[in-house]
Parts: sequence; C-alpha cells; structure tokens
Amino acid sequence: MTDDYGDSTRAVKATGTEPIPGQPVGPSPVLASAFHLSPDEGSEQDTYGRGSTPTWRTLESALARLEGADAALSFGSGMAAITAALRVTAKPGSVLVVPADGYYQVRRYAAENLAPLGITVREATAAQIYTAAEGADVVLAETPTNPALDVVDLDRLAGICRDRGARLLVDNTTATPLGQQPLSLGADLVVASATKALAGHSDLLAGYVAGSDLDLMAALGRERLLSGAILGSFEAWLLLRSMGSVGLRFERQCHNALALATALRSHPKVGFVRYPGLPDDPSHPVATAQMRRFGGLVSIQLADAAAVHALVQRSDLLVASTSFGGIHTSVDRRARWGDPVGDGFARISAGIEDTDDLLADVIGALDAG
Ligand SMILES: Cc1ncc(COP(=O)(O)O)c(C=O)c1O
Repeated sequence: MTDDYGDSTRAVKATGTEPIPGQPVGPSPVLASAFHLSPDEGSEQDTYGRGSTPTWRTLESALARLEGADAALSFGSGMAAITAALRVTAKPGSVLVVPADGYYQVRRYAAENLAPLGITVREATAAQIYTAAEGADVVLAETPTNPALDVVDLDRLAGICRDRGARLLVDNTTATPLGQQPLSLGADLVVASATKALAGHSDLLAGYVAGSDLDLMAALGRERLLSGAILGSFEAWLLLRSMGSVGLRFERQCHNALALATALRSHPKVGFVRYPGLPDDPSHPVATAQMRRFGGLVSIQLADAAAVHALVQRSDLLVASTSFGGIHTSVDRRARWGDPVGDGFARISAGIEDTDDLLADVIGALDAG
C-alpha cells in the first residue's frame, strides 16, 4: 500500500482484504483458542490462541500501517500494552520517567509494581520531561496529556533520549495515529489505548504497541505470550471493523472539538479552555509542528463540581462518561479520579454529532445555569 494516501484511505485499505473473488470484502473474525497441528512440527503459524491468531495479524498489520511502524502487537487494553512495554524496557537499576500529568493509572502502576523491583520511578510533567530525560534510561511521554492537553515536543525529547541512549515510549492515545506519528518523530515505541477513538463506539477495550525495532517487538511478543494479556479475537475483529471508519469519525471529532473550544473560550461561565488547536493555546506552536490534527478532546474549567454535573443534566446531547473518543460527546469531571486539576475541571470528548446541534446544545445548557 502506498504511504501517499490520506489517512481515511489508508484506514480503509489497511482494514480490508485481498480482492479474491468469492471471498468476503471485509475480514471475518476467526474465533479459536486451538488450531489443527501439522505432523511437520513447527511449520504452523497458529497453534494456540495466546500466541497468535489470523485476526490479530490483520489488525496488527493495520495498526502498524497507521502508525508508520514495521510491526504492531495488540493487547487486551491500553494498560496491558503500556505495562508490557514498561516491563520489557525498564529493568532493576533503570531510571524510568513517567508522566506526572498523564493517565493516572500508569504512574500508579509504576509506583506500585515497578518501584518495588528496584526501578527508580520519576514523575515529570510535560514541561519537566526534558530535564528528567537527561537522567533516565526509559522515558514514557504522553502527548497531548490527558486531561490538561499539554503537548510534549517529541523531536526535542527524542534528541535528548538518543544522546543518552535512553528508550523513548510515547502514549499516542489522545492524538491517535491520525493526529501524530511519534515513531517518525524519533520514538522507539508507540503505546496506546485503542479503546478510545480507534474503536470509537464505547463498546470494547483494546491496546497496542507499535515499533520498528524488531528485536524489541519480539521481546514484547514474548512478554504477551507469557503474561497472557491478550485481546480476544472477537474484540480484535470489532476493532478492525471500527478502524475502517476512523478517518471520518476522527475528522468530525476534531472539527467539533475546535468548534466547541472556540465557542466556550468566550463564555462567561467558562474559566479557561485548553485545546491545542486554538491559536493562543500554550501548546499550539509545538502541536502545529508535530500534529496533523489536534484531536477530539477539549478541557474546560467551570466554577465547581456542581456546575459540571449541571452542564450534563441540562444538555440533551452530552453524556457523563469517563472514557473518550466515542461517537457521543462526553464529559468527565477529572478531579473525581484524583487528577491534579480543579474541582470544576471537565474534559470534553467531542463526538460526531452535527456541529451546529452540538454547539447550540452545549451553549444552551451553560446559559440555562
Ligand atoms: C492516555 C491514556 N493512556 C492509556 C489509557 C489506558 O487505556 P485502557 O483503558 O484501554 O486500558 C488511557 C485510558 O483512559 C488513557 O487515557
């Protein structure tokens, strides 16, 4: 497949099948835990469903193409993918940097499960990560950060990691491969939750690791085989099916996010708005240099927790949900989960509703308060 295609074309092509007359146009799931073995032992590609399945291979080749990687591995969730990548790259004695302002469960895992193994865990915000990387062996960056939407300059960070021989892992969940390709900016591995915009329908959990260092990817494959953190075949197929339309969905989500950010920044009930696509957002210069789209997340500050709940209750279109990337526009009050943000801080995930309907609904709900 040519790399010159646009993202939507690449997603459609990557999730399709070879044009063989009489065969299905879209891939079908192969639901199997066990496969027939050959007397020619070792010749089979698939033997047991924890090792490999045909459905994974189709999904993984699509994920690798979208990320611009030579290989990808699917996992049972984003956390399964991220923790596998941390276990393979950080060893006792290593200094590991994790985001202080990213997805909170990752730093919790590092503190609770990696630090006791003799790995020195350091937390750094998007602004602190360049200095922290100077003393690290493994750096995990998340950009844009969830939930504050700060952007890490990946080219700069990759340069620091390269100079010191540190490995750079980038969580690409919020941007998606349609928003940025961290491997092309110098990352060693992409880790991500596919539960969000790639799956896009709030109905499955999945994760993946993508990279072009085949020894490292082989070590990750072995980690997955032995830890068993696999994606079920049905979910793999459902994700693949959803990914064919991610270009359309993500385009609308980014469009709606920018429209919401623009409308909300001048609303008297909104303290501040963060969206990397706003020209005066502090993240905008770096985001413009490394992102192809600015994503579907917008963060806003309202007066307090009650104001966030009232916004959802007075709206016809908003749903309260702690995931993001789905077709419905959703709101999550992040202080509820312990994120270091104010009580009235809400992360909005733009859905695919008609933009005018969404704006009228959200502004109407705020005005009614
Ligand atoms: C940035 C980020 N990374 C990773 C994860 C974990 O993904 P999952 O819930 O699929 O395990 C999340 C979940 O919200 C996330 O926001």
